[in-house]
Amino acid sequence: MADDSAHPPPSSGVTRRALFKGAGAAAAAGAVFRSLDAVGEEDGPRTQGPGPGAVTLRVNGTERKVDVEPRETLLQTLRLPLELTGAKPVCDRGTCGACTVWIDGAPVYACSVLTVEAEGREVTTVEGLGTPAAPHPVQAAFVEHDALQCGFCTPGFVMSCAWAVKTHGKSLTAEQVRAACAGNLCRCGTYPHVIRAALAAARGAR
Ligand code: FES
Ligand code: FES
Repeated sequence: MADDSAHPPPSSGVTRRALFKGAGAAAAAGAVFRSLDAVGEEDGPRTQGPGPGAVTLRVNGTERKVDVEPRETLLQTLRLPLELTGAKPVCDRGTCGACTVWIDGAPVYACSVLTVEAEGREVTTVEGLGTPAAPHPVQAAFVEHDALQCGFCTPGFVMSCAWAVKTHGKSLTAEQVRAACAGNLCRCGTYPHVIRAALAAARGAR
């Protein structure tokens, strides 16, 4: 799963890793994912920084106002000050997928998106998928199929698998799960269980 050459574009035709690789350092100040350009064009140039500035995010369906420096990543903002610690900082450089969240319904690496770039977007974290009392089908399937060991990679895998389930529904195949998770690494090697869990969740998908 480490090779994302077959990773289908979440919705844009570009893999997450390739997207960020291509964007490079310039991405930190510009278009990290496909639709940011459009926002810039509509709203015109906006100057911010170097100190903290007010940003309003929409996270898991709720508006959250935060003061952030322009250099702050979405992952940093989610974990502190928003205290949503599901997305994990592991490589912090767009190579492991532990920080995967959705922006406008598509998986992205939160460590590779600036918080200011996420303004006006719908951000979904693993906490927004379900709760312990009412888990998302993928979350429930991960438990049922023992799809985790240390669990550090799990939130990222859940976000990728949940995206695959919502995209492909009952027709989801193992190959499509592998492709959806191509940007996620599991050092404990739970890949077969992850695939089993995703397929089980898809079978129950409505
Ligand atoms: S922490 Fe973001 S990809 Fe590894
Ligand atoms: S369960 Fe340990 S890294 Fe994946």
